[in-house]
Amino acid sequence: MISQNTIQQILSRIDIVEIIGSFIKLKKRGTNYLGLCPFHNEKSPSFTVSPAKEIYKCFGCGRSGNSIGFLMEHEKYSYVEALRWLAQKYNVEIEETETTPEQKLQQLSADSLYIINGFAQKFFSDHLFNSEEGRDIGLSYLKERGFREEVIKKFQIGFNPEARDSFAKAAINAQYNIELLQKSGLVAVRDERPVDNYRGRIIFPVHNQSGKVLGFGARILKTNDKAPKYINTPENEIYVKSKILYGSYFARMAIDKADECLLVEGYTDVVSLHQAGIENVVASGGTSLTPDQLRLVKKYTNNLTIIYDGDSAGIKAALRGLDLALEESLNVKLVLIPDREDPDSYVNKVGPAAFTQFIAENKKDFILFQLGVMLQDAGTDSNKKSAVVNQVAETISKINKAEDFTKQQDYIKQCAELLKIEESGLHALVNKFIREKITKEETRVNREVAGNQLTENRQPVEIEDDAAALLNKDEPHERAMVRSLLEFGLKPWNGEQRVADHVFTEIEVNQLEELIDNKNLIALLKIYKTWYDEGLEPTAKTFLYHEDNIMRSLAMAVMDYNYEISPNWKDVYEGKIESREDLYKEEVFSTLNYLKLRKIKRLIYENQRDLEKTQSSEEQMVLLQIHQHLKQMEIDLTRKLGTVIFR
Ligand code: UTP
Ligand code: MN
Repeated sequence: MISQNTIQQILSRIDIVEIIGSFIKLKKRGTNYLGLCPFHNEKSPSFTVSPAKEIYKCFGCGRSGNSIGFLMEHEKYSYVEALRWLAQKYNVEIEETETTPEQKLQQLSADSLYIINGFAQKFFSDHLFNSEEGRDIGLSYLKERGFREEVIKKFQIGFNPEARDSFAKAAINAQYNIELLQKSGLVAVRDERPVDNYRGRIIFPVHNQSGKVLGFGARILKTNDKAPKYINTPENEIYVKSKILYGSYFARMAIDKADECLLVEGYTDVVSLHQAGIENVVASGGTSLTPDQLRLVKKYTNNLTIIYDGDSAGIKAALRGLDLALEESLNVKLVLIPDREDPDSYVNKVGPAAFTQFIAENKKDFILFQLGVMLQDAGTDSNKKSAVVNQVAETISKINKAEDFTKQQDYIKQCAELLKIEESGLHALVNKFIREKITKEETRVNREVAGNQLTENRQPVEIEDDAAALLNKDEPHERAMVRSLLEFGLKPWNGEQRVADHVFTEIEVNQLEELIDNKNLIALLKIYKTWYDEGLEPTAKTFLYHEDNIMRSLAMAVMDYNYEISPNWKDVYEGKIESREDLYKEEVFSTLNYLKLRKIKRLIYENQRDLEKTQSSEEQMVLLQIHQHLKQMEIDLTRKLGTVIFR
């Protein structure tokens, strides 16, 4: 992990205009900079960079974020990669923090697996080209199928000899650890002897995004009903099937350029298409697409074209996962290869030009295609048909991004036609699904905001009337307090203390749960306190660039929170008001005390309820005293707060 200290140093040097300016041309317009949006096609610039707010926003496509977000989106970097890029740009030396022994072990195991795989890949390639067995059996097979040496070398395809343990021997000789060899899937132990798992097979290495070998697919050569056609690497620290698209390392540039990703089923399909000069292609391994794989595609393009054999058993399974693609705003097209061919055999048969033409002419829209398949299945059965209508409406309802609105309208129109139903009826049905989804979503979000899943052991406060509900819900006050800390925490409070010191003497860390409901805000305050105590100087920016996405969005929301000085406040400070800057002490004071006041109001309310319930007069006396005490606190606080009101 990169140390917080390093991150602070990087952040202190970030210049968003300079960073974005190194990728796109920006022109100054007033206090902002303007350019053509790199994330969507446009002729007149609507991409705005605000150096003051340190964010970019495109008014065309709606994308926005900070410098790191830009690097992540534009350069497809991970958060850490973006930080490393910035560190290099601004000459900041990276200091790594200690990792836990557990993390180290995990990392060690992952590193070792990469090393073993690298060794194995070289072993297999060497045997394919330089051993008699490899050339006679492996290479001649590949050549017979039409693969040329250059593409075999590019994809680092290899061969594992037939002998029981030729690879295992070589690996053990080279001091590789037997447990790791087993974990890698390359070697098994039978009768206490290490044996090769991929004997007599052609080996396809599977690469990660930076070209390192994650694992292998090993294809049998002889026809043998008992043995599986392919043996794949078992799941381990680095080989996670649901996150892998075969060929993505070789395809990323071409996908970017074509703004389209072709998806096929198998290893040989990818290699053959590459050889034919069609390089924007990846394979799923014949299973339905996972959310992680879709996200991988989405990093490079919004256009996914799935190419399957016409009689592929996988096709329905593949269709199933695709509603998710719609939610991600991917445009999904489908092509079926005719005549019992697969992309590999078909491109070999008709040649690259005809293949490309065939794809271009036969791409079918996924939704319309799916509708066709379902209608065929339903036949004349009217029950089944109405199920199809529902299914289609639900699918269309998944297209829910604002920018996809016209696309959705088009689908409703086309599908209504195919279904021979009223367009307005389908429209209403789609809307019903959207509403249902929103309701579900809201319930989920509310639950998360209330932090229910984090506080299973804490009794939720019962809400019986509107007043109580209101008291429980004024999160704006919580946000206002956090905002004033993020903004003014490092400014002086008095001769000895800074604002942050004052805030944390007023509310101690172990009291946060009593004063603040939003669990994420509490987490943020705790992180702030830890950093502050370590001598780091946290600001809004530190959180806007936090490694945790939740913290980033929260900081963004807090800083963005529409905050106004109420007219009352203006009256009080008549003539003195310059800006929030000038009033920061008042703001810190008020936001803190507002939370306290709210807490007192809650206590009063709870106390009153107890009063109503109790029968014993002794208890009533005690409760009444508490009530008076609380009331006095409330009056004092309200007086202190004056007429300052937050809205
Ligand atoms: P196919 O049977 O279509 O194989 O499986 P293929 O890729 O076209 O291979 P060739 O052309 O016959 O040599 C498609 C994909 O499904 C996965 C593999 O990823 C394969 O490339 N698969 C298939 C397995 O993982 N295991 C199997 O036993 C079969
Ligand atoms: Mn094939």
